[in-house]
This record gives sequence, C-alpha cells and structure tokens, in this order.
Amino acid sequence: MPLHLTPEDARRYLESGEAPGPHLDVIGAMSAHAAAAGVRLGLFEALADGPRDLPELAAGLGADREGLRVLLGALAATGYLTSEPGGYALTAVSRPLLGGYGNTLLFWQEVLAGLWGGLEESVRSGRRGADFYTWMAGRPEVLARFQRLLQDQAGWLAEEIAAVVPLPDGASRLLDLGGGHARYSIAYCRDRPDLRATVVDLPSGLEAGRSAVESAGMSGRVTLLAGDILGDLPYRDQDAVLLFNLLHGFGEERASALLRAAARTLRPGGVALVLDRDPGHPGDAAARAFTPLFELNLHHTQGGRLYSPETVTRWLAEAGCHEPREYVLTRSPAHLLTVATRA
Ligand SMILES: C[S@@+](CC[C@H](N)C(=O)[O-])C[C@H]1O[C@@H](n2cnc3c(N)ncnc32)[C@H](O)[C@@H]1O
Repeated sequence: MPLHLTPEDARRYLESGEAPGPHLDVIGAMSAHAAAAGVRLGLFEALADGPRDLPELAAGLGADREGLRVLLGALAATGYLTSEPGGYALTAVSRPLLGGYGNTLLFWQEVLAGLWGGLEESVRSGRRGADFYTWMAGRPEVLARFQRLLQDQAGWLAEEIAAVVPLPDGASRLLDLGGGHARYSIAYCRDRPDLRATVVDLPSGLEAGRSAVESAGMSGRVTLLAGDILGDLPYRDQDAVLLFNLLHGFGEERASALLRAAARTLRPGGVALVLDRDPGHPGDAAARAFTPLFELNLHHTQGGRLYSPETVTRWLAEAGCHEPREYVLTRSPAHLLTVATRA
C-alpha cells in the first residue's frame, strides 16, 4: 500500500480518528492482491525496458484491454506505476518486484489468502489454525516460492555465517536439522575439506537441497535424510548441530525439547548453533510491524513463536550447552545467531 499521505491526511486517518485508519489497511490488502495479479500476468516484467501504452501491453500480455486498463488504474493509484505520455512505467516501489520481491509478494499473498481465514480461532483456542507444511506439500508452486525465499536468504547469509562463526577445531561432523535446501551445510563444508554434513528435513524440504548439493559438487560430503526431527534423533558424536530458523516453527514445549534432543547429538565440546529472528531487534518502522505479524503467522499456521535470546540461552543451558556467544549478522541484523558448547 505505497500510499503517500499528506500531513493533513495523516492527521485525519492516523491521529484524530476523523477518518477511519483501518480503511488504509483495506486499501493495502486490495493493492497487494492487485500487485500480485500484475506479477502473475507478467505486467511488471513487460515494463522493465521502459514505458508501454495500454494497447501494446494488452497485446503482449494476452490480456483483455478493459480488464488491464482497470488494473493499471489501480496500480497507478497505489504507487506501483506512473501513467506518463509514453504509457505506463515502473516506479521505485514496483522495481523490486522484478527481483526476488515478486516471489516474496506472491508467497505472502498465497499464505494470507489460503491460511489466515479463521485467525481468531487459533487465538481463542491457543492451538494452530492450520498446518503450514502439510498445506504447502500439496501446493508445489507455493512450496517452490517458500524454498526460493529461504534460499535467497541463505544465499546472502551462509557465506557470512560460515566465515564468522567458527566450528570446533578439526570438526568432521555437522548435523543440519530442518536444513532442507542445504545451503548452510554446503557453506560450512566448502572451506573445510574434512567436514561432512547430514541434513535432516521433511521430504518436501529436501527437494531443493538435492540440486544444490549436486551443483556444489558435494554429493559425497553432504547427505540428505528425510525424517521427522520431532521424533527420535539417532545421531551422536556430532561436532556441530545447526538449528536455523527452526525453533520458531514450534511452541515452547516442542522447541525446548528439540533443543535438548539436538544437544544430545553432540560430543562433549561440540557446538549448537541457533539462528532465528530476534523479536527484540528494533529495526525500522516496517520491521517493527512485520516482526509481530510474522509471529502471528507462526502462531496461527504452525503453533510457533519467536523466542527471545534469553529464552534460547536458558534452553541451551538446560540442554547442557554453556558459554553462549551471540553473533549479530551484518547481512541481517534482525537475525541473531547463538552458539553454545556442550559441556
Ligand atoms: C523455516 S525453514 C528453515 C530452513 C533452513 N534451516 C533455513 O534456515 O533456511 C524450516 C525447515 O524445517 C523443516 N521442518 C519443519 N518441521 C519439521 C519436522 N517435523 N521434521 C523435519 N523437518 C521439519 C521444514 O521443512 C523447513 O525446511
């Protein structure tokens, strides 16, 4: 909803209550759907090389001219396009849709449309209102978008983490729980020829890992295993165990039990690495709004939560992992990586 309010509009909608503030959210929801339709139609791609007028666009996209005119009007009114003498053109708001954010927008639009109905029920009952991974397993397109989102983030973070966060000297075994796409395991193995990694995930999560491991030439060193990490974890003597963006998918009891089970896979002196979004990170106004909404999504679709660094450290200590060290990542300050050593 890239609406630019004048100071007078902001006063009326956001401060005095003369105009209903929630109307801005209705506009935001409608414009997110309109922008998602534009991405699916290939509209923003069609404008990548410069302005186009309506007849050209309609012919190129195979769209009904009148339908497209109406969509273009909505997108121009909400800041996604400008209407110039030469035709419609992209704006600073819509340009990110040509890169990774087009995928992100479609993913969230699909999750909100498919799973957020009945949000009040999960709040009332305290139980999750949906089963995110089962829902996604039946929707290959959404699963592919989710995987791309994770891989984009890992593509950006894995290099920094593997360079900055050390493993114990001579480490040869790494266990990557819920590590699906395998990017973090691959990054750790890259400069450590003696290291082998085992990635455990649901079958749907491992598909992306298979091609990544192959194209990194790591088939002999990164093993992908389908399994439920909430069940028995029969791995032992690991030098390191990764729990990246994982605990947030579970309620307190399961998350802390998972951490204890993960710690039991370590040899004495092995390290547990926990990466997750820090709910206390201040960030900008968008991050301050997104983080609690993301947690609401976790609660509703997975029964999950965002856990504070203090909670994670306490659970690590209860699991027998001490001397916690925290790493703030320059590439994503909203994430915190906590490392603790098994006594
Ligand atoms: C948010 S993703 C994080 C993936 C990766 N660790 C990362 O940081 O990019 C959570 C992962 O946990 C996996 N997962 C969730 N529940 C699981 C379970 N019960 N058993 C195994 N894997 C699970 C999902 O399939 C998914 O790949």
